[in-house]
Amino acid sequence: MIKVRNLRYKYPNNREYTIKGIDFEIREGEIFGFLGPSAAGKSTTQKILIRLLKGYEGEIEYNGKSLLSYRDDFYEDIGVCFEMPISFSKLTAMENLEFFKKLYRRTVDVEPLLKRMGLWEDRDKKAGEYSKGMKIRLNFIRAMLNNPRVLFLDEPTNGLDPVNARIMKDMILEFKERGGTVFLTSHIMSDVDELCDRVAFIVDGLLREEDSPRNLKLKYGKRTVKVEYKENGNLVAREFGMAEIRTPAFFELLQSKEIETIHSGETTLEDIFIQVTGVALRG
Ligand SMILES: Nc1ncnc2c1ncn2[C@@H]1O[C@H](COP(=O)(O)OP(=O)(O)OP(=O)(O)O)[C@@H](O)[C@H]1O
Ligand SMILES: [Mg+2]
Repeated sequence: MIKVRNLRYKYPNNREYTIKGIDFEIREGEIFGFLGPSAAGKSTTQKILIRLLKGYEGEIEYNGKSLLSYRDDFYEDIGVCFEMPISFSKLTAMENLEFFKKLYRRTVDVEPLLKRMGLWEDRDKKAGEYSKGMKIRLNFIRAMLNNPRVLFLDEPTNGLDPVNARIMKDMILEFKERGGTVFLTSHIMSDVDELCDRVAFIVDGLLREEDSPRNLKLKYGKRTVKVEYKENGNLVAREFGMAEIRTPAFFELLQSKEIETIHSGETTLEDIFIQVTGVALRG
């Protein structure tokens, strides 16, 4: 759906390139996670993909045609959540949505969206009087206004309480089930793990790794099984390699000891993030 080839970008006032030659593809109907440390270039890349930042080098194709060849019809196709929510603070939430609706040819009924996001009762409150989480939820509704084909979400759940984050994640997954495509950045690795079909890691303007969370876990995973058992009244922990769990020694342990817990040594996406990006833990 979106193909990026040798993308380079330098902010006009900077000497260094922020994006230093990256290639990736966002397939139709997938949720593509774009991950990386702070200041790596994630939001910059999103702004380039939505044509907010011009003057990039390299090629970007949307639906088989250069992004540069599209006119405003491109905006009919996309929905965007910026990392900072934007709204007119003096207008109510409803007036904000009515305003943004006028920019599109095709729009949806906002009532179900406001209700789902828990903002229906507060629809006539000024957006400037909204709490942070309310602004974030309103921002997400704005992104969905034109029933987009592609959603660009820059840290969409950042700052939401767990219930609202759950609702938003369900809505993102439902969007995908309807055939939608998503470009998502997030620092919440559990969200990424749950939502994304594939992820790419950007570090200092270059891509390091790109695969499904599952394949990355297999690649970076410890592949061990940890068993805790009681022996002479003491708790003993032993770790076995995956190959070892077929050996008689492992079976004998299971049969002869009082087992308390058994866990496979799952590597989390957070561990992988730290390994791939090489970001040392401070302190
Ligand atoms: N308008 C701008 N002008 C000049 N440099 C900018 C501008 N916006 C961002 N940058 C620089 O580009 C680099 C990448 O910023 P970007 O916002 O893309 O990072 P990010 O990966 O989204 O980080 P975070 O996780 O903190 O949101 C940073 O060094 C930043 O200072
Ligand atoms: Mg950012």
